[in-house]
Amino acid sequence: MNTSTLSSLADHAAGGHAISLYAKPSDNFADKLLRSQQLLRDAEARHAPLTQASSLGVEDMVVTELIHQTGIQTRIFVLETGQLHAETLALLATLRTHYGREVDVFRPVAEDAAAFVAQNGPEAMYQSLALRKECCDIRKTRPLALALAGKKGWLTGLRREQSNARAEVGEIEEQPERAKINPIVDWTWGDVWHFVQLHNIPYNPLHNQFMPSIGCAPCTRAIAVGEDFRAGRWWWEDSSKECGLHVDGGRAKTIPIKEQA
Ligand code: ADX
Ligand code: SF4
Repeated sequence: MNTSTLSSLADHAAGGHAISLYAKPSDNFADKLLRSQQLLRDAEARHAPLTQASSLGVEDMVVTELIHQTGIQTRIFVLETGQLHAETLALLATLRTHYGREVDVFRPVAEDAAAFVAQNGPEAMYQSLALRKECCDIRKTRPLALALAGKKGWLTGLRREQSNARAEVGEIEEQPERAKINPIVDWTWGDVWHFVQLHNIPYNPLHNQFMPSIGCAPCTRAIAVGEDFRAGRWWWEDSSKECGLHVDGGRAKTIPIKEQA
């Protein structure tokens, strides 16, 4: 077990700051939970084979816990960009010990990543939006296509509250080749941490350091009091703060479960 794993477990055992700061369920949390469980069971029935996209952030740990509790059959994958924090990577081992789950890890094509760095330098993402997007394309979007190949449904931890661009994300979005299912789309940040507390869910200790949204290390910083949830992502840009995984911003219709074919 490495140092990061140990510190993660220590934070976890101590209850962590994030839980005491944020855990506060909505009045209708019980209903939201039932809905999330229903969405997952329906996804298994209608959109198998499934896979969960996990950034190893707290929302995705919650979705993994829901998968575990409902017992639905799904793979879990992580896009290991080569730029993730050690604390994030340590959660791969934690998923194994806590849930007995093996995770499918997708990495960028090594030659493409190396050529990009050789040509543009290791800090290219700060130079221009075009270079930042190219880096995201090599390290995230292209591996995503491989992760989703052959799958009929994928599960995410997107929440409407995360940003204006995500305010209209649907529970289920029909994409050309598969359905994207967002089972905790209407959960609040307080709901997420309430559920973490309730079930002792392991989480990234960086959340204790005011990093609510965690991506690659060079493109993630802590936020200050009063800043937006995603202010710590690509903070130097005046852009929509999306990397291409959810390019449509999720603005797809919500399809009530009973109305699906
Ligand atoms: S991002 O587009 O800005 O990077 P964000 O970090 O908010 O996305 O995560 C939103 C959802 O995208 C996560 O809940 C997860 O389903 C998926 N996701 C993001 N990053 C990854 C990753 N590295 N590997 C797998 N899925 C990811
Ligand atoms: Fe590259 Fe940053 Fe995008 Fe990660 S988030 S793929 S480091 S530009």
